[in-house]
Amino acid sequence: MHINIKEDDLASIKSWFSAFVNTFKKGGPDILENIKLKEDHTQRVCKEILIIGKQLGLNKDEMYLAEIIALLHDTGRFEQYARYGTFNDKKSENHAELGIKVLQENNVLDHFQDTVKSIIVKSIRYHNYAVLPDDEDEITLFYSKMIRDADKLDILKLITEYYHRNNGKRNPVLELGLPDTPGFSYGVGEDLKNKRAVNFKNVHNLNDFKLMQAGWIFDINYKPSYELIRKRRYLEKIREVLPDTPEIDEVFPSLL
Ligand SMILES: [Fe+2]
Repeated sequence: MHINIKEDDLASIKSWFSAFVNTFKKGGPDILENIKLKEDHTQRVCKEILIIGKQLGLNKDEMYLAEIIALLHDTGRFEQYARYGTFNDKKSENHAELGIKVLQENNVLDHFQDTVKSIIVKSIRYHNYAVLPDDEDEITLFYSKMIRDADKLDILKLITEYYHRNNGKRNPVLELGLPDTPGFSYGVGEDLKNKRAVNFKNVHNLNDFKLMQAGWIFDINYKPSYELIRKRRYLEKIREVLPDTPEIDEVFPSLL
């Protein structure tokens, strides 16, 4: 399919997005910090998707489309935080669907051809699915896989920096309030031994959470993303902040 997107389309979406985010910048320092956290995440995911896209050989218009998806993938986070004061979908609502609603209400995607609009909406919808649907068209899956990889790459950067921070200050938002208890859960070990991404239902403590993040290696779609994880040593950095026990060695994923 031929994607047709103009540079102006990207520019106008960028300016809509930054004006939109600015409307949430009010309130105390905690609120501002969490809004900035998602704003910065968005910017970095845009960069990651462009790195992946370039290595996959995308043309100019396809790169614009990838960047638009990255820019808009977490639109719902801002509304979610404003309404519920949390980034936890289980305690509020699905931020992907919330973002799609916001884009529709603001007519952000109205001037795109229907196929492009559909790729953007579905890539946002699928970015936080546990598993991608298998009955979706190829081009939608292609972009959905890109945003899923780019999103994971940035979260891996964020959390490995956090786990190796020097100030020792814990951030319950990043740790999802999980307790730092010894050992790890049986289900997490089983998922990893079977070389599959960890089911979040099995995550009960901080070690489980770290192992789940290491297990994303089983849910990476493209070679360039995989190579970036290897080069940036994300898995090694996670292993360093887990207990040095044979039980963890036994389940900890190795690069494929
Ligand atoms: Fe998200």
